[in-house]
Amino acid sequence: MPLTPRPELGLLADYSTALASAVPVRVRASSNEARDGLSPAVRAAVVARLESANRYPQLGGGQLAAAIAAHLGVAADQVAAGDGSLSLLNYVLLAYCRPGASVVHAWRSYEAYPICIRTAGAEPVGVANLPDGSHDLAGLAAAIGPGTAAVILCSPNNPTGTALSHTQVADFLGRVPDSVLVVLDEAYLDFCACADPVRSLELLAEHANLVVLRTFSKAYGLAGLRVGHLVARAEVVRTVRRILPPFAVNALAEVAAVAALADPQHRAGIVADVVAQRAEVMALLDAHGIPYAASEANFVWLPLGERSTELGGRCAELGISTRVFAGEGIRITVGEPGLLPALSDALAAYADAGVPATT
Ligand SMILES: Cc1ncc(COP(=O)(O)O)c(C=O)c1O
Repeated sequence: MPLTPRPELGLLADYSTALASAVPVRVRASSNEARDGLSPAVRAAVVARLESANRYPQLGGGQLAAAIAAHLGVAADQVAAGDGSLSLLNYVLLAYCRPGASVVHAWRSYEAYPICIRTAGAEPVGVANLPDGSHDLAGLAAAIGPGTAAVILCSPNNPTGTALSHTQVADFLGRVPDSVLVVLDEAYLDFCACADPVRSLELLAEHANLVVLRTFSKAYGLAGLRVGHLVARAEVVRTVRRILPPFAVNALAEVAAVAALADPQHRAGIVADVVAQRAEVMALLDAHGIPYAASEANFVWLPLGERSTELGGRCAELGISTRVFAGEGIRITVGEPGLLPALSDALAAYADAGVPATT
C-alpha cells in the first residue's frame, strides 16, 4: 500500500502568487504588507532578544497575551497569540470542527479559508459576494445548516476591501445559532474609516460563540515576524490553547509585538499613509473610468473580469507586482512609495487598449 495523504488535500487550490515578470519589482503591491521596516523601538527589542535566542520564548506566551489584552481592554484570559492570525484560524477550526462538519464563508474572500477548513476536516461552503464585493449576510445566514460548525466573516474583506458595519455584524450574530462559531477576521480593521465600524470586542459580551482574529502583520508592519491574536470568551480561548503549540510565537516576534504596542506612532503613520494613498488610488481609478470596490483596507479591488490579467501584465511591465485572480479581478496593495505614478502609467496603457470590462 503506497503512502497516501488524506484524499481531500487534493482538492486544495494552490495559494496564488504575484504574476511572474521579467521586469524587477520596484513597487510591491501584491501582498498587503506595510510599506517600511521596523520602528527603532521594535528593532531594538528584537536585537536585544537575539542575544538570548538560544532560550525558548515564554511557555504559553502569557506575557504577550497579557500585553495585548491590556492594550485592548479585555481580560488576559480572553486572548491567545500565535504565529500569525492564519495559524490561529487553523487551530480554532481544528478545535471546533467535527469530522464531516461544514464551515460557511464569503467568496471571494481570503483564499486561505477553504484550505484551513479542509485542513480541519470540514467542508467549505462559499457564498458569493454581492455585486459591490461585500458579504451577502442573508445568504451566509441561509447557508447555515445542522452540520455547520462555523461561519467566517472577513471585514474588511480580502480581496474586495469592503467592510461590514457594527449593525450588520450585530444583526448577523443574532441570527446565528449559539452552537455555531462565528469567526470575525479583522486583519485589516486598522485601515477601516467607515461610519459604523464593528466594535467586535463589545459583541463578545453578548455572544459566547464569537472569535475575533487580529494581526500584527498589516498596520503594525510585522508580517515577516508572524504574530496574530484571537480574542474570545475565556472558555473558547482555553479550548484553543489546549491545541496551540507551547511556543506558538517565537521569541523575536514576541518582544517585537510587545514593543509595537508601546509604539503607537509607527502604526499610526502606516495607517495614515494607507488611508491617504487609498483615496489617491481611487481618484486615479475614477479618472480612468475603471471600476473598483469601495475599500476600507490597505488594498483596492478592481473587478475587471477577463481583463484582470491584462492590467496585471501592464503593472508587471512597469515593475508593480499585484495579485490577479484570473477572470475575476485584480488586487492592488496601497501604501507603497512610488505606487501612484507607476500605476497611473499602467492604467493609461490599459485604458488606451480598450473599454474596461466589468464582471
Ligand atoms: C483576511 C486575512 N486574514 C488573515 C491573514 C493572515 O495574517 P497573518 O499574517 O496574521 O497570518 C491575511 C493575510 O494576508 C488576510 O488577508
